[in-house]
This record gives sequence, structure tokens and C-alpha cells, in this order.
Amino acid sequence: MSDDLLLSVEHLSVELPHGGDRSHAVSDVSLSVGRNEIVCLVGESGSGKSITAHAVLGLLPSGLEIGTGAIKFSGEDIAHASEDAMRGLRGGPISMIFQEPLSALNPLARVGQQIAEAILVHASPRPSRAELDARVLELITAVGLPDPATLVRSYPFQLSGGQRQRVMIAMAMANNPALLLADEPTTALDVTTQQQILGLIRRLQAERGMGVLFITHDFGVVADIADRVVVMRNGRVVEQGSVDEVLRRPKDDYTKALIAAVPGSRPASKVARDIEGEPLLEAHGLNKTFVTSQGLFRPARTTAAVRDVALSLRPRETVAVVGESGSGKSTPVNALTPPIEAPTTAAIAAISSSIWMKTPPAFGSSTDSRSAISEDGVIG
Ligand SMILES: Nc1ncnc2c1ncn2[C@@H]1O[C@H](COP(=O)(O)OP(=O)(O)OP(=O)(O)O)[C@@H](O)[C@H]1O
Ligand SMILES: [Mg+2]
Repeated sequence: MSDDLLLSVEHLSVELPHGGDRSHAVSDVSLSVGRNEIVCLVGESGSGKSITAHAVLGLLPSGLEIGTGAIKFSGEDIAHASEDAMRGLRGGPISMIFQEPLSALNPLARVGQQIAEAILVHASPRPSRAELDARVLELITAVGLPDPATLVRSYPFQLSGGQRQRVMIAMAMANNPALLLADEPTTALDVTTQQQILGLIRRLQAERGMGVLFITHDFGVVADIADRVVVMRNGRVVEQGSVDEVLRRPKDDYTKALIAAVPGSRPASKVARDIEGEPLLEAHGLNKTFVTSQGLFRPARTTAAVRDVALSLRPRETVAVVGESGSGKSTPVNALTPPIEAPTTAAIAAISSSIWMKTPPAFGSSTDSRSAISEDGVIG
């Protein structure tokens, strides 16, 4: 065995209870992670990615057990290790970042206390209070959280999604793991925050020479972060290789389909169509300012959510409004359907060539054909 091999999963099978959607959660899965290497485990929902990672940590859901196969960590088979032995590994040499930080963090404990507890589980001898506080601040700083002194006293609900994920990463780093398992750590984040978290994981991995098994269903993330890729479907590995091999020359049809589904990987000509005809909807100089009262003696706060936006929509056309969280995507759509939120100013907005901003029809009348599906699914 190579000295650089950290994790080696060999012919792993985990049976499902009778009556499940198939006989095995994972079947004959073999993969490896070396020191200083990021391996992405990719596949659609239900393909067996999480079960594989949970089997490594000895955290399978009740009713599921490792059947055949071996899980070797630093050369030692831990597939059937005792609970005591697994407790010695979890959060120590092997740690995990979970997909949903809010459910993995204790809502009633301050962030600093939770990171301190992660350190204390494996600390021997027990550090002094001052040493522990210093280590907590060091971890918070290492994961790029702002204002560490204030942050240690915050509760999870007071943080943004990206900040909570950084706290989870700080806890996972608490005892300098050799192997990090990351189960879709960025799926719930917007693209900008996702990029920052991927950058952070890559930096920590390189600084500490960790091996990382990174679970994702997103080939865009794979292209960003992976050294090697393992593709799973229906509990089996269908393809694995270096990131270059798998992304440039995928062999399996399923891998090809997953790669083709990544936005931007299809030729633009397939998407572009000639769109003709008079616009159904046209807006110029769309502005929306929100004014929020701050109490009796303080001036109201004004937020310019949308400034001078122009957009038009023709028959059979789909217009995508794209931007990061808080950039003002929803407001123009809401402003064009006035009962939701009237615009502050707009030069023209036409629907089926009747200019409704000049003579707005009663919304919901038979001549009005506007409707919008809002973020929480309500149709207006
Ligand atoms: N707690 C459980 N009890 C019984 N079966 C389970 C349990 N969790 C998962 N399974 C089954 O194991 C198989 C693999 O599931 P797994 O959670 O590993 O998928 P996944 O690839 O992580 O999917 P996702 O991308 O949705 O997280 C599926 O058939 C699933 O139904
Ligand atoms: Mg999963």
C-alpha cells in the first residue's frame, strides 16, 4: 500500500431493508482518497453518496449495516470497528462537514462554546481556559469569520448561511483531521458564497495536506475543486478517474448526461432562438425604493432596491433575471405586478400593447393577463 493512501473503501456493500426502492443502498463500491488530495463523489439524489460517507464514519442510519467489504483508514480496516474506536476517530483524525449546518449546530449554544466542545472531545491533556479561548479564536480567524471576539458570543440563528457553514468548517478543523468528509457543504448557498466556501476548503486542504472526500451532485463544483472524481448511480460506482479524464473524456453514458446538464457546458446555439414580434411587456426606468420606519425620533431608512432597470419580454421568450442574494432580482418582477409591490417610478410598461402604467386596469379584470409565480410558489 502506498504511504500516501489515507482512505481505501474496498467492495463495500450496505443492504437496504426489505421493501426499499432497491436491494442495496450501496453495492460493491471501491474508491480511495490519498493524503493531500480532493476526491469528488458525484451522482444524482439517492445514488448512495451519503451512505458511503456515513459508513466511513460508522454513522449509518438505524436498520442499515455494512454487509461485505472493507473500509481501510491509514491501512487499518475500520468497517467493523467498535463504537469506542470510532468515537476516537470521529471529529479527530476523520471529521465531517454536513450539508445543513443549522441542523448540525446546537441552536441554544453560543458559537464559541460549540467550537470549544469540538476541541475538548479529543484534547488530552485538557487545555487551560486561556489556551482553549485562544484556540477557538484561531480557528474562527482561520475560516475567515469577521470580528471573532463578537462572533464567539453569537448564537447560530444570528449568522448568515455562509457564516454558519464556516463555523461548521472551524469545528471540523478543530483537531487537525487527516481526512475530511464534506457532504454537499455548499448546496444550500448562493453562487458567490458557494465560491468563497469552496475556496476556503481548498485553502485549508492545501495548508494542512488533508485528504478530502467531497460529495456533490454538481459537475461545476467538481471542475472547481476535484483532483479525482468518482461517479455513482443506483448505489454503484459507474466511473472514476482524474478530473481531466472524467470531465474531458467521460466513458459512461450517465457521466456524459450529468456533464451535459451543467449550465454553460452546452453550445449557446442550441439555446438561442430567433424571437420576433412586438414585446408583450416592456419597462423602462423602473425604480423601486423601500422606505422603512426606524421609530418616532429617527429618520426613516430608504433602500433603493432597483435603479433604472429596463427589460422587455416578447412572445415565446424566456428572460432569466440572474444575480446574487440581495441584488434586486425579485423586486422588478414584483413591481410589474402592482398588487404585490407598485414601482416607485416607471416610464413605460406595456402588456399586449395596452399601456397599463398610464391607465392601469383593475388587477384581476378580464383584460389583465399578467401573472407571476413568487419564490414561495404563490401565483399572483
Ligand atoms: N435512513 C435510511 N433508511 C433507509 N434507507 C435509506 C436511508 N437513508 C438513505 N437510504 C437509501 O439509501 C440509498 C442511498 O441514499 P443516499 O442518502 O446515500 O443518497 P445520496 O446519493 O446521498 O442522495 P442525495 O443527493 O439526495 O443526498 C437510497 O436508496 C436511499 O433510499
Ligand atoms: Mg446525500
